[in-house]
Amino acid sequence: EKGTYPHYMLKEIDEQPLVMRKIIQAYQDINGQLTIDSDITAAMKDADRVYIVACGTSYHAGLVGKQLIEKLAKIPVEVHVASEFSYNMPLLSEKPLFIFISQSGETADSRSVLVNVKKLGYKALTITNVPGSTLSREADYTLLLHAGPEIAVASTKAYTAQIAVLSILASVTAKAKGVAQDFDLVHELGIVANAMEVLCDSKEEIEQIAYEYLTVTRNCFFIGRSLDNYVGLEGALKLKEISYIQAEGFAGGELKHGTIALIEEGTPVIALATQKNVNLSIRGNVKEVTARGANPCIISMKGLETDEDRFIIPEVHELLTPLISVVPLQLIAYYAALHRDCDVDKPRNLAKSVTVE
Ligand code: M6R
Repeated sequence: EKGTYPHYMLKEIDEQPLVMRKIIQAYQDINGQLTIDSDITAAMKDADRVYIVACGTSYHAGLVGKQLIEKLAKIPVEVHVASEFSYNMPLLSEKPLFIFISQSGETADSRSVLVNVKKLGYKALTITNVPGSTLSREADYTLLLHAGPEIAVASTKAYTAQIAVLSILASVTAKAKGVAQDFDLVHELGIVANAMEVLCDSKEEIEQIAYEYLTVTRNCFFIGRSLDNYVGLEGALKLKEISYIQAEGFAGGELKHGTIALIEEGTPVIALATQKNVNLSIRGNVKEVTARGANPCIISMKGLETDEDRFIIPEVHELLTPLISVVPLQLIAYYAALHRDCDVDKPRNLAKSVTVE
């Protein structure tokens, strides 16, 4: 039930700190160490390459998951959109492991790949919010999201839960492989939960941003580099899905290769600047669009902020920034849709789970 909330989406955004804490608890052993089923760790250790297959928001979580698994567990990862993978299967490695990410566990495009993969005799792990769902039953292994039911069509808490569970999978695999890690993930995820709470308490400020930048616009761009690029893709999907504003997310460095032609006087450009190693470059991209008339909105992170920034998120571990930088983008999409009188929880033409290919 949505209780006192006007929409499920807002309730589900607000539940994210709690979901983070539930995930930490669910994946901790009695000694407080993160743990997952040893069969899953063994399958990860055995794989020479991981293939992540998903759709929509779950695909965007997969892009972040690739970075986590490669950086922490040192296993190469490919991320694929399920509907493309079905008929255009890449040349597979010798010992692939497939990871299906699906909130509902019922997405037909993903299931069709799973069926093919099982026919070929490969192992598959499903990361889902729904125990007993089709993708969970048909895969060899399951990791649950523990996000609680997600009712709004626009996925919010499932996205952050997917990234948190992928970080645990990456970290536990790293440990099992003997790869040294210089941070304590339980502690860092706790910091993330607190940071999410701060963001959920900043609704008025974020609503103001949505009001200023998005009330009358036809389109909006999201730019970022590295992990921020992936979060930008998710921010754009959220915005188009519920506010019907044409939105596009792209890598900061790609701007000059075409998209910059679309920038006009007043075009809103939301730029994420939470990655230390590319902070100067993304700010350079903001200057490029501003010089062409764009209305820039820089969202940066504490420690990297400058006077030109519109919103500053609290500092978290550099690999976990997507967990919190997405929250203002979810709220921006929510308020933009609200101001434009859209049906936030049930956007036109969309269903919560897409059970046709
Ligand atoms: O249930 P799934 O995670 O498999 O769903 C995949 C997509 O259909 C889903 O993420 C969709 O993109 C959302 N409506 C985005 O908010």
